[in-house]
Amino acid sequence: MNIHQNLSDPRANDGPNASGDQLERLRGYINSQIVGQSAFLDKLLIALLADGHVLLEGAPGLAKTKAVNTLAAAIHCDDRRIQFTPDLLPTDLTGTDVFRPGEGTFEFVEGPLFHNLILADEINRAPAKVQSALLEAMAERQITVGQSTYKLPDLFMVLATQNPIEQEGTYPLPEAQLDRFLMHVKVDYPDLEAERQILALVRGEAMHGRTEPDFTVTPATIFGWRAAALKTHVSKALEDYILQFVFATRKPETYGNDLSGLIAFGASPRGTIALDRCARVHAFMRGSEFATPVDVQAVVHDVLRHRLILNFEAEADGVTKDQVIDELLKRVPVS
Ligand SMILES: Nc1ncnc2c1ncn2[C@@H]1O[C@H](COP(=O)(O)OP(=O)(O)OP(=O)(O)O)[C@@H](O)[C@H]1O
Ligand SMILES: [Mg+2]
Repeated sequence: MNIHQNLSDPRANDGPNASGDQLERLRGYINSQIVGQSAFLDKLLIALLADGHVLLEGAPGLAKTKAVNTLAAAIHCDDRRIQFTPDLLPTDLTGTDVFRPGEGTFEFVEGPLFHNLILADEINRAPAKVQSALLEAMAERQITVGQSTYKLPDLFMVLATQNPIEQEGTYPLPEAQLDRFLMHVKVDYPDLEAERQILALVRGEAMHGRTEPDFTVTPATIFGWRAAALKTHVSKALEDYILQFVFATRKPETYGNDLSGLIAFGASPRGTIALDRCARVHAFMRGSEFATPVDVQAVVHDVLRHRLILNFEAEADGVTKDQVIDELLKRVPVS
């Protein structure tokens, strides 16, 4: 083997080219399997590289499950779907101590949370006790059963869906708990051309099976990307912009009297941290060592929309959180 030739090949070392190349392949692959949803898929990758959890919102049949399965397979992780139901118990998620009569001892049997990517489907169908078991696992990345604590996998990401259609007999997550999610991502319907490609893709899959990835990305690769993304530079001016934006959600009237009384609760410091982290990952994913206001603006809706509580009057007037964020984007100056 010619060492020099290897070193001159950008893919042969761990330089930025090598990671960019692999990341593009991963991105290309998941976009080839889930068509016309590149915005959604990019957000999944941002959350993965920012080590956060995602609340997914979208009508049924928009390939949310397929996206999680495909991503998990492409990064050599395991995934698990948990359907939340009214009769689910916290131990159905966490696992529990099971008595082994032969040995006369209890042994912990891991629940479905002990996997890498967790698709928690329709979390609003399970009562608060179960939801908080999930939220605790998300925050602490460990599970306590009885006297013992068990560590969850190093790569642990929850993607939770709420059923947006039926509200009857459900337990919507308390607004305060939504803060635990790094992003609240909305999945939209594909356009006509994409929908045509979905047909072709699914027909092809039915006949020939799915296309396997022709690259190797593992959890170790993901950890490497996470570490690299953390090094993305944020200037003092950009930091000010992030801070001003979050403060604007708390005191929107600073940016115009017409905004006063729109927001009952603004974003928390968790929101500030999330905005900074996601903007840096966004910059990293486009191959830049510096984050810019464009990176903040690209993620701000997904990072903040679930952290705002609008006033009753604003809600009644049909004002949406996205509209409020749009308005703040126009008014908060880029420093
Ligand atoms: N954008 C897309 N690209 C490729 N396949 C798609 C796309 N959208 C939907 N499909 C196909 O539609 C079917 C439904 O997808 P999936 O089960 O992942 O949806 P879902 O969003 O999880 O739905 P639900 O909310 O009911 O669980 C799958 O067979 C999937 O292959
Ligand atoms: Mg599904």
